[in-house]
Amino acid sequence: MIVTFPRLSVAAESLPLSIFARLYEKLAGFAGDVIPLQIGDTYLMPPPAGRLAQQPYADDRDLYAYGPAPGWAPLVAALTEKVRTHNRIPVEDGGIQVTAGATHALACSVGALLDPGDEIILLTPHWPLIRGIAQSRSVVSIEVPFSQMLLAEPGLDPYPLIARAVSARTRAIYVCTPNNPDGLVLDEAALAAIVRVAERAGLWVLSDEVYEHYTYDKPHVSIASLPGMAARTLTVGSFSKSYGQAGLRVGYVAGPRPVIEAVRKMSNHSIYNVPHALQRAALAALREGSGFLDDARTRYRQARDRAIAALAVPVRVPEGSTYLFLDLAGHGCNADGCLPVLERIAAAGVLLAPGSPFGLAYADWARLCFTAVAEDRLLEGIDRINRVL
Ligand SMILES: Cc1ncc(COP(=O)(O)O)c(C=O)c1O
Repeated sequence: MIVTFPRLSVAAESLPLSIFARLYEKLAGFAGDVIPLQIGDTYLMPPPAGRLAQQPYADDRDLYAYGPAPGWAPLVAALTEKVRTHNRIPVEDGGIQVTAGATHALACSVGALLDPGDEIILLTPHWPLIRGIAQSRSVVSIEVPFSQMLLAEPGLDPYPLIARAVSARTRAIYVCTPNNPDGLVLDEAALAAIVRVAERAGLWVLSDEVYEHYTYDKPHVSIASLPGMAARTLTVGSFSKSYGQAGLRVGYVAGPRPVIEAVRKMSNHSIYNVPHALQRAALAALREGSGFLDDARTRYRQARDRAIAALAVPVRVPEGSTYLFLDLAGHGCNADGCLPVLERIAAAGVLLAPGSPFGLAYADWARLCFTAVAEDRLLEGIDRINRVL
């Protein structure tokens, strides 16, 4: 008997499942120590206070009850204070929503701000999942080549690049600083160009600042701290990157109270609330993790510098984030982009992220995370990459 299913949604059909499937096949033939440099994570344990075993969890009914929709009140209060003082964003009480990581924060924000058929401008290369988040709501992504232009030509006014991508359907710009995958940190001049576009065209700004604590050469500036911008910006943060707690899935959105109420509806109707036990570990990291941030930043900077010195391919020095973005054109890329090269690297037991999910223009590029493994394994991985290249 032939079983036929009712059809899936167009959005589900169009989303990619895994960008790593082909590489995992090649990896299957490798018997030694696999070095995973494709995923953006850290080898560091979270700050001691933020580890699950350190939480006073026993016999507490709150851990097993539904929690408040905005997030656990002490965490919401601490985040409100952090966003006001650290990010200098004049957020009101009620202007924070705790989410299941920044991924959920961005999904809820897109759901709150955009309708099917609306356009969102992605400054590329961009964090891959934002495209799928938009696509899953039938929002159209418009790519604007951006950070590589600014890295190549510091001082370039990016206003015309972005302004010409605005149409009657544009509703929002997604900005990521420090940027994943190339580590560009936007200074006030570059942010001012985005502000001009947003103000003139009446757009929302979705500001992804999950790497805010990992800048090496420049200070981080939140776009919502610039005059007038708090009213049109949603700022997203994450405990995944800041405190090495990616597995806890705790993030947040900060913004104007009525907009956060809309974001809250999206969160409430998708997960109801973030697990209480995990919010506690996040709060402990926020309260007691400043030493961790300083130590991690020092280690990450050293890993970045040693990785760049060891790599046989030239790479622009990322001012922030935890990635190197490598141009592999000339190293055996073909119509499939750099996948054939990445397959050979995978056959040597090292995984890198292929470039095409970061934007249509980046098929010949690959991303390497320099914090995914400790430095000795990172350098071993780079040695293997060099031999393949
Ligand atoms: C730029 C950017 N935004 C958002 C996320 C999602 O982070 P989270 O683990 O908090 O969902 C990531 C994770 O890699 C990221 O790099």
